[in-house]
Formats: sequence, C-alpha cells, structure tokens
Amino acid sequence: MMFKGRVGGISDDGLGMLKVGGRKFYVPFAYPGDVVQVWKAKRRFGRRIALDFEVIDESPLRHGARCPHFGTCGGCLWQGLKYKEQLRLKAKIFERITGVKAEIKSSPKIWGFRNVSNFIVITSGIGLKGYGNPLGVVNLRECPVFSKRTQGYLRALRGFLKETGLRPWNPREKSGEIHYLQIREGKFTGEVMVTLIAHVKPSNEILKAFNDHFSQADSIYWSLKVDGRDDPRGEAGLIAGKPYIRERVKDVTYFLHPNSFFQTNSYALPLLLKAVEGSTDGERVLDLYSGVGTFGVWLAKRGFKVEGVELNPFAVGMANRNAELNGVDSIFRVGKAEETPIRDYDTVIVDPPRKGLKEAAELLVKSGVEKVIYVSCNPKAFKLDYERHLKGVYHIDGAILIDMFPHTPHVEAVVELVKKE
Ligand SMILES: C[S@@+](CC[C@H](N)C(=O)[O-])C[C@H]1O[C@@H](n2cnc3c(N)ncnc32)[C@H](O)[C@@H]1O
Repeated sequence: MMFKGRVGGISDDGLGMLKVGGRKFYVPFAYPGDVVQVWKAKRRFGRRIALDFEVIDESPLRHGARCPHFGTCGGCLWQGLKYKEQLRLKAKIFERITGVKAEIKSSPKIWGFRNVSNFIVITSGIGLKGYGNPLGVVNLRECPVFSKRTQGYLRALRGFLKETGLRPWNPREKSGEIHYLQIREGKFTGEVMVTLIAHVKPSNEILKAFNDHFSQADSIYWSLKVDGRDDPRGEAGLIAGKPYIRERVKDVTYFLHPNSFFQTNSYALPLLLKAVEGSTDGERVLDLYSGVGTFGVWLAKRGFKVEGVELNPFAVGMANRNAELNGVDSIFRVGKAEETPIRDYDTVIVDPPRKGLKEAAELLVKSGVEKVIYVSCNPKAFKLDYERHLKGVYHIDGAILIDMFPHTPHVEAVVELVKKE
C-alpha cells in the first residue's frame, strides 16, 4: 500500500501531519510543505506513524541538515528545518496548546550549545538512541549540537573498551559491564567532566586505563549502576581530578556534578535567567523546585532575598554550595513543593518536572502571593495546572519563550502569573 500527499501541518510533538483520503499519518523528519510518499505505517497510541517513507518534493521551509546522522538519530527531529521556521513553529505549537501568544527568543548558538551528552553503550553500537527505537542506537561519529570533540571522546571510550575487554550493555539479556558515557562541558570555562556508568566495580588496572584514555578531562567519575534500567544514573564516585567542574553564566558560576540536573544550553541560559529576573517583583523570592539553585543564585546576586525548596538533597547541597561560591546568602532546603507552606513572598518561581505542579498548585492558589513565575518545558502540563487550579486566582500577564533546545520541537516557557484583583 502506498499513500502520497503534502504535509499540511505539524503535530504538538513535532511530526509532519499528512492527510490522504480519510487517513492521517504522522511523519517524523517531515515538515509542512513536504510531499511525502508513505509505504508503511504503524499504529502507536492511536496514531498512524510513518515508518517507511520518502520525501519526494522538499518544502521551502527546509535546509540541509549539518549532522550526518540526521534522519535516524532521535536527538534532532527538526534539524532539516530552517532555524527561523523552527522558532515560528515552536511559538505556534505553544499558542495552540496553551492559548497564549508569546514572543520567542532564539538560542545565541545553534551548534555546540549542549553542555551534556549521555552516550549509550550497547552491544549494537555506541552513540545516541535512534528515533522511535528505544532499543536501537545510532553508532555516532559526531554530534554537532554537543561538541566538536565528540569524536575524540568516543574514540577514547572505544580504546578503553578494547584495552580492558569490558563489554557494552546488552539490553535484551541485561548483561554486560558498560552502559553509558556521560560528558559534561563547561562551555564558558573549558572544563570537562567524564563519567562512565557501569555495572561493575573497577579494579585498579581498569581505573588506571580509564584515566589514561581520558587524561585531558578535569574530572573523572566511575558511576556504579545497580539496576538494569535504561538511564545514565548510578552511584558516582570520583576517580581522578576535581569533584566538580564549573560553568560560568555571565557573572554567576555554577558547580556541575554527574548527579545533578543543569540546564543543557549554556548559551541560551542567560536569556532564561533574564526573563525570570525581568518578571520578578518585590524583594522576597521563593524558588520552588530549585534544583542546583540556577534561578535562585542568579537572583540573589541581583539583590533579591531568595529561599529555595527542592526534593533532591544532593541538588540542595549543590545549590547551597553554588550560593557560597557566588558570595550570596540565599538558603536552599530539602522539601516537597506540595508540602511547602507559602507565605510572605513577593514572587514565587516554579519550575516543576515534566508532570507539572499537581498538588502544589493548590498551595499556590491558597498562598495569596501576588506574583508567580511558571517556568516550563511542557506546555501541556502548564495548561492543565493553569486551567484546573491557578486560573481561579491568577491571570496570565505575559509569557516569553526561550529556545533552549534548537533542532527539536521543545521550548522553555516563562509565564508570568499575577493575582487577580
Ligand atoms: C526542571 S528541574 C528545575 C531545576 C532548576 N530550577 C533549574 O533550572 O536548574 C525540576 C526540579 O524539581 C525537583 N523536584 C521534583 N519533584 C519535586 C517536588 N515534589 N518537590 C520539590 N522539588 C521537586 C527535581 O529534583 C528537579 O531538580
């Protein structure tokens, strides 16, 4: 069976939408205006996703992708789209989902901007996950959104595996020793942290070999993974160099550690921080879901009195360390957002995980606080929180989108909520 037609729109998750007769197809790596021929599709969560297809006439919105892995790698669905079109479509999707029209700010750099990469190491290859194939991998040669040094990192890893005989993880059999290689680069400090996520404790010889292969790094960790889950998380132990590397964002320096979340685009981060700062009113600020203190420390440096609350004790330790490093006296403590009494703050910043605020939204509604800044990379979760809870008390006073994630359909939103009269 073959279906042919012109892509008429883009789905909320960035797939080209094609209607042929009564059928609707969702086509990855295809954009409005492309003429596409689909030979094979598969139903997934109620949608027909094109599996075998060809773009036979290219949309004027396209340009050549820089990466040789574009079209198979799951990292960059939109690399074939001109950057200005990416921005336009992100704002359009955000408005369609939330009903909010917002200006979008472009990322100052669209290549080499990511400060972290998690390379999966499995029997079928070493690299990044393939699009739509959770068990597959794209055997990576380069990654232009991450670093010019990608090839060197991967060469060092391959050399290490060859020398030690350690085996890549086998996801089907759940066997093997090495599962991920995480690299973090401080883009403004030049510092590099290398973490190997492994299922075995290393011998001294193995540690020495790993150090030798990554001798250029400033910080080297071995992270022991005790579960078979497919994520780059383990118990990280320093094996050489410094325990932290640093990233500098304008006048603020942040420590980075293998186990702590940090915003992935160092170049667009000042735009995000300035958008939050520009919306912050008064003096007393609560940074809820504060992570390593990214917003809180920045604001404290500008004279705001900041308290932060965060679930992850490790991140809280990092946040307090970041406050000290920058000479500010903001305080971060461990707590659940949904159990945090909110009073006497002029502004509350919330930056919840992808699932949104859930119960914490009710606390905000009861708090009486005048200004809430909702930071979100998931417009659907924001929409739900707003419609179900916040709308009764707050109106939307404005929103800014920051493109933290070039070449993907994702965007970071900073939404300003002001208490209704
Ligand atoms: C999207 S990250 C934001 C971190 C920080 N604002 C930043 O920009 O680096 C969300 C944070 O919420 C934390 N978190 C998740 N559930 C939480 C909860 N119920 N209460 C407080 N913090 C929570 C996570 O540990 C994570 O650090």
